[in-house]
Amino acid sequence: MSQLDYLVTGALGQLGRIVIQKAAQRGKTTLGVDLQEMPLEDQDAIRKTVGTARPKLVIHCGANTNVDGCEKDPAAADRVNGHATAFLAESAVGIGAGMIYISTDFVFDGKQHGVPYTIDSEPAPLSAYGHSKWLGEQGVLRHARPGFYVLRTSWVFGPGGKNFPRAILERARSGQPLKVVTDQVGRPTMTHDLADAILDVAEQRPAPGIYHASNEGQCSWHEFAVAILQESGLGHIQVGTQTAADLNLPAKRPAWSVLDTSRLTAARGKAMPHWRDALRRHLQMIANP
Ligand SMILES: NC(=O)c1ccc[n+]([C@@H]2O[C@H](COP(=O)([O-])OP(=O)(O)OC[C@H]3O[C@@H](n4cnc5c(N)ncnc54)[C@H](OP(=O)(O)O)[C@@H]3O)[C@@H](O)[C@H]2O)c1
Repeated sequence: MSQLDYLVTGALGQLGRIVIQKAAQRGKTTLGVDLQEMPLEDQDAIRKTVGTARPKLVIHCGANTNVDGCEKDPAAADRVNGHATAFLAESAVGIGAGMIYISTDFVFDGKQHGVPYTIDSEPAPLSAYGHSKWLGEQGVLRHARPGFYVLRTSWVFGPGGKNFPRAILERARSGQPLKVVTDQVGRPTMTHDLADAILDVAEQRPAPGIYHASNEGQCSWHEFAVAILQESGLGHIQVGTQTAADLNLPAKRPAWSVLDTSRLTAARGKAMPHWRDALRRHLQMIANP
């Protein structure tokens, strides 16, 4: 029997499920695991899963993505997002597999306003979630070997996920007033485009290390909300403004987290689509499932 192509963690999450779908479309074999089959806190489960599946590459999408929840127990966040990733990386090395770890713009503090973060920018996370993901990055990058990657992305949305477009549309359609933050700017990223980027890296195996993978363009959450309504034929609904300070969430988010995607663009020979184009495709997909 031929070797499994990809072991995908977070298989039930909004990104993992699309990675699995698209990998199958490319003729690749995948094994998807989530909390049930391989709890990230459980090193035995990780060792056993990786040792039995023996994939060519691990695509690690699984994580505790409850950003505010992570503030309540930073040590638990570090275990799930940080130490487990390091252990998974070690397990991958143990069987000679590669690894792609999906990380986040939240490793940055957002203070370099106006200048996109490059792969060489120094992380300085503001939140427990950001810290735990950075820890995970270090666990992967420590190996500095061919086939080992950290792909940072941002503001992820896609059909089937719990995400910002869904929250905005639900509120708008239920007639609740909308107020959205104006002073955080980033790059919305669609799962389908991100999955394509991940699978291109998996197949093309460019130089190892960090890549930034986000849709092109940038916007504030407020601009994103307005676009979601406009593209859904709900442009007449007013979106009020507020600041991050008004919202006062438990976890601090970067005010600016535009990722410089040039290394990925050069490696793939093409840029990711603009976020507004991605949003249109997303809305079409959820309207015609
Ligand atoms: N969403 C974003 O805006 C965003 C932005 C930047 C980077 N990322 C990164 O992108 C990756 C994919 O995110 P996503 O949006 O697809 O997140 P998601 O929908 O929350 O998927 C993550 C999956 O991991 C599972 N999981 C949670 N805790 C686990 C544990 N202890 N053991 C095993 N599995 C566990 C989740 O299960 P439950 O649903 O049952 O918890 C879920 O199925 C993550 O690494 C995330 O950090 C996401």
